[in-house]
Amino acid sequence: MAKLLIEGGVPLSGDVPVSGAKNAVLPILAGALLADGVVRIGRVPHLQDVTTMMELLGRMGVELALDERLWIELDPTRLREHVAPYELVRTMRASILVLGPLLARWGRAVVSLPGGCAIGERPVDLHIKGLRALGAEVELSGGYIEARAERLSGTRIVMDLVTVTGTENLMMAATLARGTTIIENAAQEPEVVDLARFLKRLGARIEGEGSNTIIIEGVERLSGGEYEVLPDRIEAGTYLVAGAISGGRVKVTGVRPEHLDAVLLKLREAGAELAIGTDWIEVDMRGRRPRAVDLTTAPYPGFPTDMQAQFCALDAIAEGVGLIRETVFENRFMHAQELRRLGADIAVEGNTAIIRGVPRLSGAPIMATDLRASASLLLAGLVAEGTTVVDRIYHLDRGYERIEEKLARLGARIRRIR
Ligand code: EPZ
Repeated sequence: MAKLLIEGGVPLSGDVPVSGAKNAVLPILAGALLADGVVRIGRVPHLQDVTTMMELLGRMGVELALDERLWIELDPTRLREHVAPYELVRTMRASILVLGPLLARWGRAVVSLPGGCAIGERPVDLHIKGLRALGAEVELSGGYIEARAERLSGTRIVMDLVTVTGTENLMMAATLARGTTIIENAAQEPEVVDLARFLKRLGARIEGEGSNTIIIEGVERLSGGEYEVLPDRIEAGTYLVAGAISGGRVKVTGVRPEHLDAVLLKLREAGAELAIGTDWIEVDMRGRRPRAVDLTTAPYPGFPTDMQAQFCALDAIAEGVGLIRETVFENRFMHAQELRRLGADIAVEGNTAIIRGVPRLSGAPIMATDLRASASLLLAGLVAEGTTVVDRIYHLDRGYERIEEKLARLGARIRRIR
């Protein structure tokens, strides 16, 4: 099993280009199932989750190719089957995103229940509740969701909770429904907005994306088209924290700074100097030790839960005590026990981590448990004295494109060992 080996203590410096957003490209790839023609998607990051999604679509009969620009070309018009099997869905829960498109375009879908994961139980009850509200018959049997609908009918849906993929599944399903659908208490993440823009490129009629009320006017069909995915704000935020934790100066390029407001505010509070351009952000720590920050995760535009683990690592070596509250998932502090192995002083009480900054961490062998936890362990390894070996880094490869190459370009002493 591959591991990453890091020699800590080097202040990072330099520019790093940000890849396309994992959490935008996954719903957009699934949304291609709605189209009556060929879809081409650009700025697709090379990630394990993207490979898994393409394998899933390919198994259904979607024809996949790369065009001369290395954009992904999908032809969904000769779909053979409507099943998302357990052995794929359990490796990537975002497979649930084919449910809405399959049902809307083909009238039926058989999708394995994703099951839980390290960070929480992660139910999909609100996806199912919304599809039933749109007129689908949905049965759960043998660990599978079996859904059918002649044609979905638009309606008003009030989401019990803000759910990103729940909002995305229902928005996609509603594009081909008869009549108007209103989704209240909708997720406002930039990735939801990017999906809406992609669907409108195919002819969907959507308004209000980015607000908590999305209105979808159903149409008869969606054409093919092409779309370039937005840059990954969580990847960008992770590299900015890498600059801050190591006391260096890092510039992330090809980003949308307006998507990182909550994260930039916390980096400033930690004592980082920030310069912001139209599509770049530079963090400069000037060799200083960060100050501890308090934060509470929340749905967008609040502080993103996907950046919580990274800030636990930053607080671990900061001056002072930081309180980090996780309100989105019920078990997202798995990184705390691993950070303790490096010498961090972290106590977890309920949904809050109390982190007393220590002047230095010491390298040790540690183990990744989930995607963003593994990023936080890597960040801690960058600043820990001596050698840190992070095991089970397949978690990292799901969400970060060529992470050790990008960090090495910034001066990190890091390499992948088998
Ligand atoms: C998306 O997951 C992201 N994944 C996650 O990123 C991200 O952490 C999360 O949104 C929150 O921002 C993708 O977009 C592919 P939710 P999602 O539904 O949609 C509860 C990463 O690291 N809930 O917004 O699965 C749920 O249990 C990943 O890139 C229900 O109760 O998250 C959670 O407590 C991790 N019933 C809360 O809502 C439902 O039917 C928010 O979950 C759906 C969700």
